[in-house]
Formats: sequence, C-alpha cells, structure tokens
Amino acid sequence: MGQAADHGAAPHLCARAAEGFQGDRDHTMSQQEDRLKTLIGHAKEYGFVFPSSEIYDGLSATYDYGPYGVELKNNIRRYWWEAMTKLHENIVGIDAAIFMHPTTWKASGHVDAFNDPLIDNKDSKKRYRADVLLEEHMAKYADKIEKEVEKGRKKFGEAFDEAQFRATNPNVKRSQERIDAVEGRMKAALEANDLAAVRQLIIDEEIKCPISGTGNWTDVRQFNLMFATELGSVSGESSTIYLRPETAQGIFVNFLNVQKSARMKIPFGIAQTGKAFRNEIVARQFIFRMREFEQMEMQFFIKPGTQQEWYEHWKAKRMAWHRALGLPADHYRYHDHIKLAHYADAACDIEFRFPMGFKELEGIHSRTDFDLANHEKYSGRKLTYFDPEANESYVPYVLETSIGLDRMFLAILSAAYDEEKLENGEERVVLRIPAALAPVKVAVLPLIKKDGLPEKARAIMDRLKLDHNCQYDEKDSIGKRYRRQDAIGTPYCITVDHDTLTDEAVTIRERDSMRQERVPISEVERIVGEKVDLRGLLKQL
Ligand code: GAP
Repeated sequence: MGQAADHGAAPHLCARAAEGFQGDRDHTMSQQEDRLKTLIGHAKEYGFVFPSSEIYDGLSATYDYGPYGVELKNNIRRYWWEAMTKLHENIVGIDAAIFMHPTTWKASGHVDAFNDPLIDNKDSKKRYRADVLLEEHMAKYADKIEKEVEKGRKKFGEAFDEAQFRATNPNVKRSQERIDAVEGRMKAALEANDLAAVRQLIIDEEIKCPISGTGNWTDVRQFNLMFATELGSVSGESSTIYLRPETAQGIFVNFLNVQKSARMKIPFGIAQTGKAFRNEIVARQFIFRMREFEQMEMQFFIKPGTQQEWYEHWKAKRMAWHRALGLPADHYRYHDHIKLAHYADAACDIEFRFPMGFKELEGIHSRTDFDLANHEKYSGRKLTYFDPEANESYVPYVLETSIGLDRMFLAILSAAYDEEKLENGEERVVLRIPAALAPVKVAVLPLIKKDGLPEKARAIMDRLKLDHNCQYDEKDSIGKRYRRQDAIGTPYCITVDHDTLTDEAVTIRERDSMRQERVPISEVERIVGEKVDLRGLLKQL
C-alpha cells in the first residue's frame, strides 16, 4: 500500500507551490512545464496518449492509450513480465480480480489508513496535500545547497573537495539545518497522526498558497483515497466494495493457492500486472499521477529474518532491469523513505528524472508479515507455510517490488524525446525508444508507388510481420516518411528501390544514427531481429 510510498511525488499544484521563491527556480519550472507540454502534445498528435473522453472535455487525471501507446505499453509490460517470470524459476504469475471481498481492505489497513493529509487555502479555495507542501518547501533549501556546491566547484576547480565543502560551508550548513528541522517535525507529526502539528509546521515555515499568496489555511484533514461502489442490486443486500488501490492484495490472499498449486518453496515470488484506482486529490502531471493506472507488482515470500538481504537483492535487481534499457545513468537514483508505511521495516524508491524533476518511479518495500498476518486475523484462515528445511511453520515475510506501468511509459517517452538539429539545417523530432520496446519495429517503404516496388515491399513486409510489428508506407517523399517513423520511434526503415528488383537488396536506415546500409533481403530478418528482440534486454539481466 502506498500512502507513504508514493508521496515523494509532488502534484502539479504543489509543484507550483514552490514557485516564487527565486527567479532561477521559476525559470527551471517553466522550462520543465514547457517540456512536459511538448511531450503531451507529441503523445497526442502521434497516437500515444489521448485525454479520456475528450469530446466531453475530458475527465481529469484519466487517459487513453492510442495505437502506438498501447504497443509501447504492452512491450514494457512484457519486458517486466518476462524478466520476472521467465528469468526466475521461483516466480510465477497470477491475474486476480479487481473487486475483492471488502474485508480485504480492512485487513490491509487501507480502510483506516490509506489517507492523504489535505489542507485548503481559505482565500483561493485550492486544496493541497500538506505533506507535499512541506516537501516542496524543503526542496527549495535543497536547491540552494546544490547552487552553493556548484559555485564552490567553479571557484576551487580541481582542488574542490565536495564532501568537505558540504560539511563546512556556512550557507550549506544553514540550509541543511533547515531541512533537517522541517523533516524532523514533519516525520514526528505524521507518525503520530498529529494533524494540528502538521498545520502548525506549515504556518511556522510561512508557506503560502501560490494562487492567493496567503497563509490562510484550514485545518489538515485525512482523506481516504479508495473509490467505493455498491455490490448487488437488491436493496439491503448490497454492500460497499472498493476498486483495488493496489494489485498486491490479490497476491496476498492467493498466497497459499499459488504455493500449493504450483508447488512453490520459499523463497518464491508471485507477479501480477493490472489496474489500480486511487482518488488522488491533486492528480496532474499527465500520466504521472492518475486516478486509474496500472501496476506491475511482485511479492517475494521469504523466511522471517532474511528480509534485509532480500531487500538489498531486489533493490539491485530492479535497478539492473531499468539500466538494461540504456537510458542515461544519471536519470536514476534511490530515495530512502523518511516515513515508513505502517507495514514496512525498510522501503526505498527508484526515482527517475522526469520532465518535472526526480520523482518516484518504483517502490521496493520490505513489508514484513503485516499483510499475511492480518489476513489470517480477519479471515480466520491459517496462512502459514511449512518450511521442510527448517522443519517449522511460519507466516512468511514479504519483499515487494512495485512499479507503475504508466509511469514507466512516461519515463521512457520523456527520455526518448529529442529535437535534433541536422547537418543540413533541418530539424527532426525523434523518439529514441529502446528498440525492443518500440511500438513499430520496422517500416517498409517502396521508393515510389509503381514499377513493381510496392509488390516487392509488401512481400518483404509479409515475412517481417510474422515476428515484428511493421508498417507499410508509400505516401509522400521518402524524407517525410522517415520523419514520420522517427516521430513514433521506429528503429528501422527499409527502402525498396528499383535496384532491389534486380539485386535483391534493400537500404536499411537506423533511426538514431540515420546511417543507411545496403543489405541483401535475406539478411534483413536477422539484422532487425538482433536489435529489436526482447532477448537482447533479457540477456543483460
Ligand atoms: N503495493 C505497493 C504500492 O502500491 P505505491 O508506492 O503506492 O506502492 C507503487 O505504488 C507504484 O505505483 C508507484 O511507484 C508508482 O509508479 C505507481 N503509482 C502509484 N500511484 C499512482 C498514480 N496515482 N498514478 C500512476 N502511477 C501510480
């Protein structure tokens, strides 16, 4: 469950709450907003992501995936699924229902604790997440520190000792002390569920509403994030059920079914992908924070006492999965949670450098036996495992890896988007999507649409399409067709020209380098296959 887990991420409004502190920050934020806007525009124009029910002006924080979006999403899901289940003999999958018995959510703690602390500004009537207002406030000091360090680096050049500078520079120390003080008070207040203290901290820090510019705040209240609905049509027989806010609980309640039917021995994992729903209060920033989204979660069942070792193991494994994609290394970092969720004894995020800055992409949580023990308590059924090696029964501990598919999509899209100036002075927009995940792998292009070239191109396409998602395009100049394929991230274009009819060779053009090579038709399948096959990624893991 994620009330603490996902809260590092600032919703759009709260990101705006940090504006106005300093000119540079304003500038960076507007650049970030511009970049996000460009990405949203591109995603819509090229059939990746559309606003939901757009003809009715859309529904906030809900999006639909278009023809290329759905392919990219499926490919990311498949990469995750195969990395989990194919590469690990001790991980199997399930597909549980979205609706679950309502007691599930009582046992998991979601009914009582899946809340956001909210605060309203009385003048602007805008609503904010109190913890995010404070986090953004601390980020302002963190920015100051980084600027100071940069200044030091410039001043001292080669001789610069960053660690010593951070430990001794008075401005850095002052800002760090401010962060520590706010962080300490926030952590204590949230852990004690002392909402008055959270409000007092906002007032003491003189945090203002970015819309009204005032500090005229309401009390802080808890708001439950689950969507509720009614089951059954007969009055009196209906009961409240919830749209699942995480997929994990479908795994917990099936723990013994899976263990027994698939004859699993601890340590073993259960993987699942599927929709989850959260009534996010400030749900903006495109597909980063949605009310309906998809998760890819894996619960790894382990012997109590081994959790620290498995926590480190899965932290490294998950980072390796990300890094195999070849996106820039400086786009990833770990972030340890300040406030642990009530079920966790250790937790961290893998953060990604999104257009809006570093934000949570994936969570790795050591969940102890919290969920299984509570399901035992609420269901009255035993959820113990008999360990034949230790000759004892116990409720297993759980190590969880949990990633948002839509967030992963945004991470790839944002890192892939590039506006490139070419040597001839022209510009192209290219999506450098990792080839194995690209929505369309190959475009087959007859140079002109006569003289038998279309037929030849179709014959090549007919062979390739058995293995790959391909596109045939004969409209417009070849240059325009290349640009169209660049804009959707197609790694290879194959051009069929008049010579092809006699030499049985084609020109293959690679998206990133734009290099063109003449190759025999008989070689095309091998060349394309090597680069776009998921095996290339899986082999690195
Ligand atoms: N079972 C653990 C859990 O749900 P979480 O940190 O709340 O933990 C896991 O969520 C991941 O799900 C996050 O790292 C994020 O990628 C994704 N996620 C959470 N809330 C989301 C939202 N409103 N929209 C899109 N993705 C979201």
